[in-house]
Formats: sequence, structure tokens, C-alpha cells
Amino acid sequence: MPATALRCRICETEFPLDPVGVCARCFGPLEPVYDVEEQRRTVTRESIAAGPLSIWRYAGLLPVAAPAEHRLPPGFTPLVRAHRLESALGVGELWLKLDTANPTHSFKDRVAAVACAKAQELGLRTLACTSTGNLANAVAARAAAEGLESAVLCPASLEPEKLVATAVYGTTIYAVEGSYDDCSRLSVELSFELDWGFVNVGLRAYYAEGSKTLAFEIAEQLGWTTPDVVVAPIASGAMFSKVNKGFGELLELGLVEGDRPRLVGGQAEGCSPVAAAWESDAERVKPVKANTIARSLAIGSPADGELALATARATGGAVHAVPEDEIADDIALLAETTGVFGETAPGVTLGALREAVRRGEVGKDDRVVLLVTGDGLKTPGVVADRLQPTVVEPDADSILERLGVSL
Ligand SMILES: Cc1ncc(COP(=O)(O)O)c(C=O)c1O
Ligand SMILES: [Zn+2]
Repeated sequence: MPATALRCRICETEFPLDPVGVCARCFGPLEPVYDVEEQRRTVTRESIAAGPLSIWRYAGLLPVAAPAEHRLPPGFTPLVRAHRLESALGVGELWLKLDTANPTHSFKDRVAAVACAKAQELGLRTLACTSTGNLANAVAARAAAEGLESAVLCPASLEPEKLVATAVYGTTIYAVEGSYDDCSRLSVELSFELDWGFVNVGLRAYYAEGSKTLAFEIAEQLGWTTPDVVVAPIASGAMFSKVNKGFGELLELGLVEGDRPRLVGGQAEGCSPVAAAWESDAERVKPVKANTIARSLAIGSPADGELALATARATGGAVHAVPEDEIADDIALLAETTGVFGETAPGVTLGALREAVRRGEVGKDDRVVLLVTGDGLKTPGVVADRLQPTVVEPDADSILERLGVSL
């Protein structure tokens, strides 16, 4: 395992690989640092290809060792071409990364698995998180697969599908009468008192690295080349920034051909602090009170918002807000043109891509990857008005008659 320390992104102080979420000197965020020379020696395209068909094929690029037994491993999800949607949008090539295929149907299985491996290395018995829904599903399932206890804090207003898909694993759900940001504050306070592995507090430095595997898989699935553009949703901003970091690491190690992709981010208008900062060319992200149907993205005070902003700028990308009343249409557009039913977050992601095309930022010369980070079956309410069945009698003739087929 080539990770050697945690390093503060602000003051660059290094710390041992402990479960500490922030820098003891300046409260800055921590990130693992790796022995790049060792990675150069040990991680090759061939060594990766010989690994399991899951995120663990990239263990040499992650801050934890692969588990001894791979229980319900996430990753290596399909990357599929979307010919009809790419023509409709007017982009050169469009590929969908289907993280709906993960064990709990979102990309959060990746980050939960990496955080859990660290929790197990530390001997922790309870896995915990704050969540806008999908992470709760992933943490609860991961704990069940590994035989750990779990507890999640989430806003009481979450979609019932997401709450049920967490409860079923036997987890304790604290449904907080407040926002995600309230849940976050609670989890920081509780983390001082409880010896639980809070995946997005004390284990955050490890957890967040799990999202790099999206970049690793995309590069490998494109024959070890980089796409021109990756479009992703932004809530805390962690995944957006780590996807960029993942491509950067592959390029540094000489594992992939091409340039760093431009990263285009999407936020729902009702919770768009990063997009607002992008639009006004601000340095800082101003927290907002979230009010959006995209509940999985409803983080008003994003921990990695400024990093996401910097990532969009550094890669020549953008961050766009998507009007609330377009999200359901984008979910339907994705479903009708590709056969993929995404949740609200991918609806927002497609909306951001449409906006980037409209502004001329993405077009005919681009090979684009759109991250489908979560499954539509978890948020069916927002497209429920599409259900307008033709009610018929149990009689073939009555259907044929409606179709104008004369008998
Ligand atoms: C489906 C889905 N996509 C994207 C995100 C955004 O992730 P991040 O908080 O790392 O920005 C989330 C966060 O919960 C999510 O549930
Ligand atoms: Zn620091």
C-alpha cells in the first residue's frame, strides 16, 4: 500500500495515516500522499488488468489495502456509448458511466468501500455517516456485508425510497429535523464522543479518494486514453475534484495517453452555491439554504466547494446551475434516448451538459463522459407525472381498435 501520510491541502503539514479529518494546525482538509516511485514500479496497465473487476484493481493507487475477501465489491461499472443522445445534443461522442450498476445503485458504494476498509484496518466496529441519501444506502449495505454495525444521520425530508433502502440493512437511521448541513455539524460533534468510523468526518481523507476510481475506470475503458470532457454533479464537491485528481495521477504515472479532461459540473438551481460562484467569477463559495428537488445534491455549505471551483477553472471546464423545472425533463430525456433511468443528480448532470453545449463550451469535436451517479428508481416521485397509462379492458380487440388496426 503506497500511501505514506496525510497532508494538509492548505499548510502542507503531514500527519500519520490516522482517522483525522482536518489539519490540527489550520483545520484544512487532509489528503493522502503516495510514494509515487513505488507506484511507478508496481502499478502498470498489466497489473491492473490482472486485478479483480472492481475498484480493487486500482488498490495500488488508493490509501487502503484491498480487503482480504472482496464482499459485494463496487466498481468497474459499464461505460456505454449514447449515440442517439449525442446526436440530439450535438456533441462528438457521448459516453455514459453507469454507476447505477453498483451494489446500492450509486457511486457512493466506491467511497463507502474505501472508508470501510480503513475503518476495519483501525478495528472500528461501527460505520457511520451523514448523507443526502445515497451514502446512507451505501454505508448501511457495506456495514451489513462486512458484519459491522452502522448508523446514519440524514435529513428527515429525504425521499422515502432512500430511507427504506437504508433501513432494510438493519442500520440505525437518525432522521434529523433539519438540513444536511445540520447533520454534518451533528456528526462532527458526535465524532468527538463516539468511537464510530464516520466516513465523511474522521475517515473523509480516505473516503473521498474512492471517487478517483471513476477516472481510473473511464481511462481504462477508453483504452487508456482520456476523454475531452467529463460532466459530473456537485454536492460537497469531493467527487468532482477527485475525478480530476484521478486523471492527473494516471497522467503523472504515464498510464494514460491524452490531456487532462475539462470538468463540467452541474448543480440544481435551488442549491447552487458553486455554480453561483462560477457565474460571478468569485473566489469563495457562499453557503446557501438548499431548496431543491435534487435532494442528493442538497448541500448548502459544500466542504470542497472551493476546490470544485478551482478544478473547473484549472481544467478549462465550467459549473452550471440547472433550473429546477428542467430536472425531470432531463431525467426523461436521458431515459428516452438511452434506456438509462437516472435519479435527480444525473438529471442535473445532463442539464449542465446541455447548458455547456448551448454556451459553445462543449461540441462536435469533443468526446464527453457523463457520470450517471445514481439510480432513478430511488427518486421516482419527480417523474411520476410521466405515468399516464392507457387503461384498457382485458380484450385484445379494444387495443387493436385504439391502434386503428381494422379486423
Ligand atoms: C447520486 C449522487 N451524485 C453525486 C453526488 C455528489 O457527490 P459529492 O458530495 O462528492 O459532490 C451525490 C452526493 O450525495 C450523489 O448522491
Ligand atoms: Zn493545515
